[in-house]
Amino acid sequence: MISRRHFLASGASALAVPALTSSSGAQDRRSLKAIAASKGFVFGTAAATYELKHRDFVLAALHDCAQLVPEYEMKRDALEPQRGQYNFTDLDALFSFAALNGLSMRGHPLVWYAANPPWLAPALQARRDERLMTGYIQTLMRRYTMTSVDVVNEAIAPDGNGLRPSPWLDAFGPRYIDMAFHAARAANPRAKLIYNDWGCEQGPNDRFRATTLKLLDGLIARRVPIDGLGLQGHLEAFGPRVDQRKLRDFLNEVRARGLSILVTELDVLDSGGPSEIAARDRGVADEARRFLDVVLDNPATNAVLTWSLSDRYIDPPEEWKLKLMGWRFRKLPYDAQMRRKPLWNALAQSFAGRHSF
Ligand code: G3I
Repeated sequence: MISRRHFLASGASALAVPALTSSSGAQDRRSLKAIAASKGFVFGTAAATYELKHRDFVLAALHDCAQLVPEYEMKRDALEPQRGQYNFTDLDALFSFAALNGLSMRGHPLVWYAANPPWLAPALQARRDERLMTGYIQTLMRRYTMTSVDVVNEAIAPDGNGLRPSPWLDAFGPRYIDMAFHAARAANPRAKLIYNDWGCEQGPNDRFRATTLKLLDGLIARRVPIDGLGLQGHLEAFGPRVDQRKLRDFLNEVRARGLSILVTELDVLDSGGPSEIAARDRGVADEARRFLDVVLDNPATNAVLTWSLSDRYIDPPEEWKLKLMGWRFRKLPYDAQMRRKPLWNALAQSFAGRHSF
């Protein structure tokens, strides 16, 4: 755990701000974290140190969020750029910012096919040393207090056909997933251990949902210490939609396995939609409602986090060409000027379980 002295020395204290009075005036003091908590849910968001340098983002995050997850600071390419040489500065700053402001943290990710430093794959190929995984997991799980952590991220192939290629799969075979969860539990018995992926959300993805359940069944049968499933929740307002019946049935299967459910990276891509802003915002809010109304109706669901709060920051690389053509994505609860959008109200309504809010 990071000491306050260490935090202040890290210069991250500039990120701490006085307790928020009201980011949007007295007329509307509602907060997503309060509405969510009133129904037993945690609401939060991904945050990055570059976002926490903007006061308006910080005020909105402190107003609406009870939990944060690092957007990139906990990825191995950022943390261990050279083998055995960790750079914890930015991740420490995020965790200390959360601690100073009374927010909990979730971790993301420990083991992933992506965002690994260039030295890792060659090292695994040279020597299949389990400590290249377990040592890293132990280092993070012992250094940080996390409510939950994405132990393995995106292990299933995007078409749902088996496991996705990964330096970990090459080195250890499918058992790499078991290894990761056992190492995480051994290092920190308190954190909830999550398998996190995208692909179960959209209607057409029957095979992905079936492969996910098969993966979970294997872990459970081998007594691997897994506590929950993370649905990333990268939705599309004008693409493949959520099929509420299929999603409900799938989530009931997850719950029947004794697992908790989290929405870990919610955003609603609006590419392919109308150019008229209000129509795009309505489409984004409607798809989020269709998804969340089903997810929040399942008693195993305990948390929803968006993948940042504001359209100001994250654009998916595969859509950068659209951005170059002047397209601004409107995937998140706040716009680039930190004004609330219909998606903010959709989140509030879904948490409250009410259609007029
Ligand atoms: O490392 C630099 C850092 O030094 C610099 O200060 C900072 C600010 O500019 O940028 C850092 O680099 C980039 C980082 O995003 C922050 O913008 C990395 O080069 C870039 O690879 C990284 O991309 C992130 C990506 O995961 C890979 O880690 C995206 O922001 C992030 O949105 C994306 O998130 C993933 C989830 O982890 C898993 N699910 C899908 C989701 C969206 O792709």
